Amino acid sequence: MSARNGREALPDTGEMVVVHRLFTQEYRASVGLVRGVAAGDTARGAVVADHLAALGAMLTEHHLAEDELVWPRLKDDPAIEPALTARMEEQHERIADVLGRVEQLLPAWRAGADPALRDALADALDGLLPALDAHLGDEEEHILPLVPGCFTAEEWAVLSERGRAAVPKTHRLYMLAALGEAAGPDRHTEFLGRLPGPVRLLYRLVGPRLRRRTKSRLHGTRSAGPVGAPVA
Ligand SMILES: [Fe+2]
Repeated sequence: MSARNGREALPDTGEMVVVHRLFTQEYRASVGLVRGVAAGDTARGAVVADHLAALGAMLTEHHLAEDELVWPRLKDDPAIEPALTARMEEQHERIADVLGRVEQLLPAWRAGADPALRDALADALDGLLPALDAHLGDEEEHILPLVPGCFTAEEWAVLSERGRAAVPKTHRLYMLAALGEAAGPDRHTEFLGRLPGPVRLLYRLVGPRLRRRTKSRLHGTRSAGPVGAPVA
């Protein structure tokens, strides 16, 4: 599961880059997804609300794990300038505020698919994107390069384990396929390499179809066919 450089196992920081891409990919899509739920359509509202709740739980845990495991070790590193720390803390607070607002709006919107709540939710999600982009970008540019000097592969793997555990069981297939898309062509091989053998085999066989099917279910469009069917 960990990247290797010669004989020495290094922390697999590339996995976090793909997870960041998943967050931006899914939150970016979520704005239109929410706006597309018609007034009173509680069935669609429930599907979208469940998706947002899953994403919120995952992003909250992502940041919590970083707060607990990464910052205490890196905050005094001379390579991290105080301005960067201040900026990242501010972004972090902004993200936490929006996630709190989303969490607050979700139950009532889910219950009645009220259009005013829908618009407030979509506006909140729209406001999340700049802070998320900036925060994850700073993390990748300034924090991840310091990780190999401060963490062993095993220590860093705890973050991945916590991240995986935060994905609700009902959303695991969706998130697996979303992660595959987020990996993109440049990180596709390393994405496959992290999957346990049986899951890798399944993904090779049906990954693109799984993405189409789970995405169409979320978006309320027609199913792209059974997951088990061969992928053309
Ligand atoms: Fe991160």
